[in-house]
Amino acid sequence: MAIIEVKNLVKKYKISEKENGILGYIKHLFHPKYKEQIAVNNISFNIEKGELVGYIGENGAGKSTTIKMLTGLLTPTSGQVVVNGIVPNEKRILNNKQIGAVFGQKTQLWWDLPVIESFKLIKKMYEIPDEDYKNNLKKFTKILDLKDLLDKQVKNLSLGQKMRCEIAATFLHNPKVVYLDEPTIGLDILVKENIRKFIKDINKEQHTTVILTTHDLKDIEEVCDRIILIDKGTIIYDGEKEVFKNKYGKHIIAEFIIQNKNSNITVETIEEEFEIIEENETSIKIKFNHERLTIIDIVKSISKYCEILDMHIQEEGLEEILKEIYRGELIND
Ligand SMILES: Nc1ncnc2c1ncn2[C@@H]1O[C@H](COP(=O)(O)OP(=O)(O)OP(=O)(O)O)[C@@H](O)[C@H]1O
Ligand SMILES: [Mg+2]
Repeated sequence: MAIIEVKNLVKKYKISEKENGILGYIKHLFHPKYKEQIAVNNISFNIEKGELVGYIGENGAGKSTTIKMLTGLLTPTSGQVVVNGIVPNEKRILNNKQIGAVFGQKTQLWWDLPVIESFKLIKKMYEIPDEDYKNNLKKFTKILDLKDLLDKQVKNLSLGQKMRCEIAATFLHNPKVVYLDEPTIGLDILVKENIRKFIKDINKEQHTTVILTTHDLKDIEEVCDRIILIDKGTIIYDGEKEVFKNKYGKHIIAEFIIQNKNSNITVETIEEEFEIIEENETSIKIKFNHERLTIIDIVKSISKYCEILDMHIQEEGLEEILKEIYRGELIND
């Protein structure tokens, strides 16, 4: 049985429609008017134990709303959520014991306390056995490099330091399911790497199920095997990441190091499937559809204009594919 079951889930927010000014405010007091905003529109998916799922989509697509319903923070307007046999918003305390959650820059640590004291409180709250606590603390301190942070007050930590502690706190009670809503926002590359490695390590060891939302697609490239793509509250793709890339990644980006350019490169014959992304005296970057053209076609075309010294070929990454999808170029139904 799937550890997370979501069926026909809907969330509508009620938004008050106030007219401007004091008069509008008074009118609203006596005759309040509301309109509905559908944030999540009839979505269904199942997630098996141990899966690492990237939940992605544009700003306002409905990701955080979904995560909040999965954690039990929000009650669905309709539809069902069952996490490890529990309906989260009906049994919040029981559900909290089995999950962990990180919401962007909000902290679950006690602001004025040293980090280690927060960890001890979490140990008490979640009734973490001594042995598990000791092992996890040791392991997490090592992977997330927390040694020098444990005695510092949370309010004195930098964003990256705080997030590393936050992630440790989230996994301390060996949750079965972890929701990470933009855990790497605003962090430097090394901290991001650190957090990605941590998630992968713990998943491997404990088979923790993880749902990750992020706008940094490198997080998804490195951590997740499956992606769920949501657009305006509706799921438009759910499946393996590699299948997604094969299905939609029809382009290759080729970079050529060149010299002796005799004129600007214009490629009349094959222009439809061929786009010059960058061009200067010493290099040119080209994106082309690999179903229509080969790298030989490209080399032939540009060698009329310059000498090619070197080249580097790269498949289209998730980021480029998603840009095209968000622009409405790939999925229109
Ligand atoms: N509390 C709320 N009241 C009214 N509308 C809301 C509320 N929270 C979110 N919304 C609306 O619901 C939609 C989905 O928002 P949500 O926060 O789930 O998006 P998201 O995918 O997490 O976006 P982002 O990438 O910006 O975090 C948006 O149109 C948003 O304006
Ligand atoms: Mg969000």
